[in-house]
Amino acid sequence: MSAEAIPTTSRELRLVSRPADRLTQENFELVEVPTPTPGDGEVLVRNEWMFLGSVYRDLMNEETALPIPNYEIGKTPWCTTVGTVVVSHNEELPVGTFVLHYEGWREWAVVSPGFGVKKLDRSLLPGAEYYLANGPTAWRGIVEMAGAGEGDIVFVSGATGAVGTLAGQIAKARGAKLVIGSTGSKEKVDFLLNEAGFDAAFDYHDGPVLDQLRALAPDGITVCFDNVGGDQFEAAVEHAQPGARFALCGALSGQIGGTDGDHPRLALMRAIAKQLTFRGFATFDTEEQLAAWNQQFSTWLKEDKISFAHTVVKGGVPFAAEAFIGLLDKKYAGTVVLQLND
Ligand SMILES: NC(=O)c1ccc[n+]([C@@H]2O[C@H](COP(=O)([O-])OP(=O)(O)OC[C@H]3O[C@@H](n4cnc5c(N)ncnc54)[C@H](OP(=O)(O)O)[C@@H]3O)[C@@H](O)[C@H]2O)c1
Repeated sequence: MSAEAIPTTSRELRLVSRPADRLTQENFELVEVPTPTPGDGEVLVRNEWMFLGSVYRDLMNEETALPIPNYEIGKTPWCTTVGTVVVSHNEELPVGTFVLHYEGWREWAVVSPGFGVKKLDRSLLPGAEYYLANGPTAWRGIVEMAGAGEGDIVFVSGATGAVGTLAGQIAKARGAKLVIGSTGSKEKVDFLLNEAGFDAAFDYHDGPVLDQLRALAPDGITVCFDNVGGDQFEAAVEHAQPGARFALCGALSGQIGGTDGDHPRLALMRAIAKQLTFRGFATFDTEEQLAAWNQQFSTWLKEDKISFAHTVVKGGVPFAAEAFIGLLDKKYAGTVVLQLND
């Protein structure tokens, strides 16, 4: 891109106050700033897509239990973003390099190697937004924590989220016998069955989770990939076969809306008697993990073993706050990606 094509000003969104409970547009400010200029060793990236996930709501709180930095007031928050280097003062990242980085919620970003920037092979996947798939997290839970594969009966809670849609499909691609997902509406049940490759799905509003699991998997489950916690976790423990493995990924029912879903009751004697395994995990994607996942994702997409179930949101940075509030209101399904420069 020629220097003339780089605008002198560009837009970004700042977090100006911490949400009391419900996040509103007033917690953000849209600002027009001089497009940043890269210094020595830095590069200028034209951002293309950013990822939207519930986890960012946690980061808006004063304190968080997450092992990643929370957001500072008055600043543009970080988030997972992809874009292309258009000005380079660093030979490791020449002009044209496609990168994943964390300077999102803005149209243009200055980044430097060593601050979480990862080079990507743009030819591998069908579109730039595919590189925002939460595959490394889903893979880690399904494969490395739960060891799910041939013959398993897998329950994924929070299945229509960015991680859940992939966790179920990875289990399926590895030979799981039955993959069941939970979600919050009839439309999303259909989405899981028709677009995300699940064998069965239920709406957790339709009755006790335990009853729904019993109906769909009469023999019990052998793997649980838990994104939700609360009563979904409790039901999964109750309905687990002896030796079942739990990958503990998230606690959505405690993260959004201030419920105590991240403090489920563990039926301890059941867990002991059934010799259940619980493994919590936190994924910090390295360039190698990301490259390995993208390679696997590419292969499975070509073999039709997986789909990228996602929602594209347009409107760019001016629409980012509304889009994120929409995500918290459970409007979207699959990985939610916001286009930043179209
Ligand atoms: N361990 C790690 O390394 C790691 C990495 C990334 C993310 N995570 C965690 O994994 C979890 C899933 O993340 P994600 O990005 O996939 O989520 P996401 O895409 O933001 O999921 C959004 C969906 O979650 C569901 N949800 C929201 N509140 C819920 C509640 N109280 N009970 C049940 N479902 C609820 C809603 O769907 P419905 O309409 O179906 O309710 C909503 O549409 C989060 O807890 C996140 O923090 C962990």
